[in-house]
Parts: sequence; C-alpha cells; structure tokens
Amino acid sequence: MAETRILAIETSCDETAAAVVEDGRRILSNVIASQIELHARYGGIFPEVASRAHIEAIVPVIEQAMREAHLGFDDLDAVAVTYGPGLAGSLLVGVNAAKGLALGRGLPLVGVNHLEAHIYAHWLEVESEGAATSPQTESSGGLEFPLLALIVSGGHTELILMHGHGQYEYLGGTLDDAAGEAFDKVGRLLGLSYPGGPAIQETAQGGNPQAFKFPRAWLDDSYDFSFSGLKTAVLRAAQKYSDPPQGHLLANLAASFQAAVVDVLSAKATRAAEEFDVTAALLCGGVSANQSLRTTTAERAGVPVYYPPPILCTDNAAMVGACAHRHFVAGERAGWDLDVVPGLRLV
Ligand code: KG4
Ligand code: ZN
Repeated sequence: MAETRILAIETSCDETAAAVVEDGRRILSNVIASQIELHARYGGIFPEVASRAHIEAIVPVIEQAMREAHLGFDDLDAVAVTYGPGLAGSLLVGVNAAKGLALGRGLPLVGVNHLEAHIYAHWLEVESEGAATSPQTESSGGLEFPLLALIVSGGHTELILMHGHGQYEYLGGTLDDAAGEAFDKVGRLLGLSYPGGPAIQETAQGGNPQAFKFPRAWLDDSYDFSFSGLKTAVLRAAQKYSDPPQGHLLANLAASFQAAVVDVLSAKATRAAEEFDVTAALLCGGVSANQSLRTTTAERAGVPVYYPPPILCTDNAAMVGACAHRHFVAGERAGWDLDVVPGLRLV
C-alpha cells in the first residue's frame, strides 16, 4: 500500500508551524517559525501581534515544509490543521490556510485537537536519543495500552489515562495556572527572559533546590493540581531580598521553584501509573522538555517514562501530522465549515 502523506499546520499559539508526515510516523519536514522574540518584549503572548505574525509567516512556512519534504501538492493525501484549543485569532490563520489549500488542491481536510497532538508526538520516529527516552525507534509497536499521559504545556496541565487510540479518561488537571504558565509567570517575576520555562531551567542549574521550602499543593488524594499558591510564595520570597533577585539568590529561587513543580507533577504521575497499572507514562507538551521533570519522573515511576526530543515537546506541526494520520485512516474528514474552538477539550 502506498504511503500516506499529510501536510500538517499548527498556529494555535505563538509558533507558525508546518510539517509533512508519512504514515503518522516519519517526519519528512518540520518547519517552525517562532515568535518568541516578538513577544519577549511584552513578557508574554500578545494575541493581536501573534495573529499578525502568523499571517506573515504561514505561506513561507508551508512552502518551506513542502520544499524540505521534496514533495509537490499532488503527492499529498490530506491537509491537517489544529482547530483548538488555543488563541482564536491565531487558530483562524492556520484553519483558513488549510481550508484554502485543501479546497484549491482537491485534498481532504482533517481537524486536529492540539492536546491530542501533543500526545501523538510519541508516535513519531526520532533519531535515537538514547534507548530510554523513546519507544519510537521500534515504531509504535513499542507502546501498549493502557498508557498514562501527563500533558504539561503553557495552557494545560492534565493527567490522562489512555485506554486505546482516541480513548481518553480524564484523571485530573490544574485548578488555576497551567504548569508552563507558572514557569512563565515566575520567570517574569524573577526578571528572566520569556518564555520562563527554559530560562528557569538554565538559572536553576547553579542553585540549591532545597534552599527555599516552597509549598506543594497536594490537594488530598486527587489528581488535580494548583500552582498559584507556589507562584505567590516565590514572589514573597523574592521581595524579601533584592529586586530583582540576582546571583545565588536567583539561582536558589529558580531551583526551589522548579523542584516544587517537578515534585508534585512526578509524584501524581507516579501514583496514577501505579493505580491504573499502565505500561508506560508519556510526558507531553512544552514543560516535558524540562530535564528535571524527565529525570525525576523516570526515577520515581515504576514504569518506563517516555518524552519526545525537546523540539517535539514544544509546539510543532509534526505532532499534528502524527495525530491526523489516525483520524485520516479512520475515515474522519472535516467539512468546509470547520471552525476554530479556542476552548476545545480532550475529554
Ligand atoms: O506546548 P507548548 O509549546 O505550548 C502550549 O501548548 O502551551 O508549551 C509552552 C510552555 C511554556 O510555558 C514554556 O515556558 C514551557 O512550555 N517550557 C518549559 C521548558 N521549555 C518550554 N518549561 C519548563 N522547562 C523547560 N525546559
Ligand atoms: Zn502546545
């Protein structure tokens, strides 16, 4: 049977991305135009600026993805696009581009949920980073259900029990800030560059994670999370000293904050993995690029813990192509009335 090739488009937040994925696994191209520099001066994402930047970048990014895949539009089987969750104005740019292309080229259109796409990053083949980090080297045959997915991104923190492809059970999620949002807000209050996640990880390297005993919101035995109290505790601690904090103090604050987030995420993931007897835990979304989260969860959980390479943890279109493939082969097609759903949920 001939391979299935899908052009995937992702514009839900501040990355304009396009990729061509073969059979839901092989990445033929993966182009990401980041808007980080544009938003850094505001210390966060400015929605109008984001949609304008997507409009400017979308056509060249798609053209580059096709060029790098060495394919013409006639070689494609479908066009896929993220239609939610995300920023309405940003999502619209991708959805309209995908519709225009699909209609113009006579290709089927597939709509993709961004959260599900983060999970399906685990089915992409990657150049081996070390056997322990990815089951993809054996293709998807390496993953058996039930699986636990911890989705930790800028907008979401969810623990999901995956019974099969497309079969999700919600175990818990954040009651206030998402994990990535907490990293970004704490990064800002510590005077670090945007986005806060990578900046805190780097700053934390020279710090003592036990220097500050920041609170952990265990929320009894639920699988829910809360990070807003932690954020306030970091703010109070920082204000007691210099403003903005520097040197050792800054490193200790960053390391202690990161340790508190990682402690709760890894402990709850470990408990869920045990309770539901999963075969493996999948770390998904931008925060799963965090080195401390990866190693701590891998040490604690009694099952293999997988995480994609960092470039496939943060927003990209290859994961959208991997996810779209499942829906495409199941015969699912989006209509021309496909609309953006900014508050789309996984379950
Ligand atoms: O998945 P993603 O690219 O976008 C959303 O879907 O939201 O996640 C972005 C989030 C940001 O909050 C960013 O600070 C965080 O991922 N992030 C990290 C790291 N790299 C990115 N957080 C902690 N450690 C990192 N190394
Ligand atoms: Zn994302």
